[in-house]
Amino acid sequence: MWKKQLFSPGPTPVPERVLLAMAQPLIHHRDPAYEGIFQEVREGLKYVFQTEQDVLVLASSGTGAMEAAVVNTLSSGDGVLVVRGGKFGERWGEICEAYGLRVVPLDVTWGEAVDPMLVERTLEADPSIRAVLVQACETSTGVLHPVKELAEVVRGREGTILVVDAISALGAVDLPMDRWGIDVMVAGSQKALMLPPGLAFVALSEKAWGFVGRSNLPRYYFDLSQERSSQQKNQSHFTPAISLVVGLRESLRMIREEGLQQVFRRHELLARATREAVVAMGLELLAPEAPSPSLTAIKVPQGVDGAGLKRSLEEEFGLVVAGGQGPLKGKIIRIAHMGYFQPADVLQVIAALEVQLKRMGYPIELGKGVRAAQEVFAS
Ligand SMILES: Cc1ncc(COP(=O)(O)O)c(C=O)c1O
Repeated sequence: MWKKQLFSPGPTPVPERVLLAMAQPLIHHRDPAYEGIFQEVREGLKYVFQTEQDVLVLASSGTGAMEAAVVNTLSSGDGVLVVRGGKFGERWGEICEAYGLRVVPLDVTWGEAVDPMLVERTLEADPSIRAVLVQACETSTGVLHPVKELAEVVRGREGTILVVDAISALGAVDLPMDRWGIDVMVAGSQKALMLPPGLAFVALSEKAWGFVGRSNLPRYYFDLSQERSSQQKNQSHFTPAISLVVGLRESLRMIREEGLQQVFRRHELLARATREAVVAMGLELLAPEAPSPSLTAIKVPQGVDGAGLKRSLEEEFGLVVAGGQGPLKGKIIRIAHMGYFQPADVLQVIAALEVQLKRMGYPIELGKGVRAAQEVFAS
């Protein structure tokens, strides 16, 4: 018998409170009871997005909200600057290409953050660029991109919006949408919002809503203007994912109870303990300069089989971590600490990692990593 625990950067563990809320008998979405729940959810999402704008809830995975962001704000032939520093940056490019946009890629070494100066220079050189698309946290590398600085670059440019994929950052990293001037922010349910997959979220600034009025790309299911008018009445244009919305009310309550700033501090603490443990074990971080508090990407040491390491953590300890994607397949493992995580989880996964590395022939003194994490928690 194994007790499985997710350490993958999505899906992530779902709290018992949320599971129990979702296990209640289904209610009808045209019922006033649902409208009351949805009203509370809408308020809670504004709190987490740190915005006065409507945060629209879509029944899709996160990519649906990415697509919605593109097709509602841009027009065929528009130039877009896509920050490509990992698998999800590439996804922005793929979506934009699918809709006939002119993609200007800004390729960033996987494991590094984008330099806002390069974005600024690209915009100066090509003033026709209508949008800058980036991840807050690039989940394939564990990098945190400098969203605040990017917003400063884009804010003064009337004809350009900043579109941020915060799917693995919202609720783990401070991203004050209104204060920083993020124009479009996208999120998903299965990360730091502590829900199963199936909901996506998107919020637009006033400037971005202006872009919606001029956009001519085809859309039907993800028509954000229609969604906004329904959701402002605590309804949705199509059948909502009712049980997930009920669960979301509970997870948003948990975030409010803890307080958003404390949620960010907890993520930072867990991430720091994980990183210090990794370094103490003699391992290398993939993103030492710009690590995200959501997850830690660790280079698999020479001579160790990366896929085998991931598999053995699951088979021997019941801990489900993630491997690398694309060119990083087999070369890294990724350990999430976003959402429903606490210090004991970090101690557990580090202890198991030490055991498995030793078994696989990596020269390690057991307890070194755990101790480093303990020191972080003890201080
Ligand atoms: C940063 C980022 N963007 C986009 C996605 C895609 O989201 P989904 O798989 O929910 O469509 C993910 C999922 O892992 C992600 O982490």
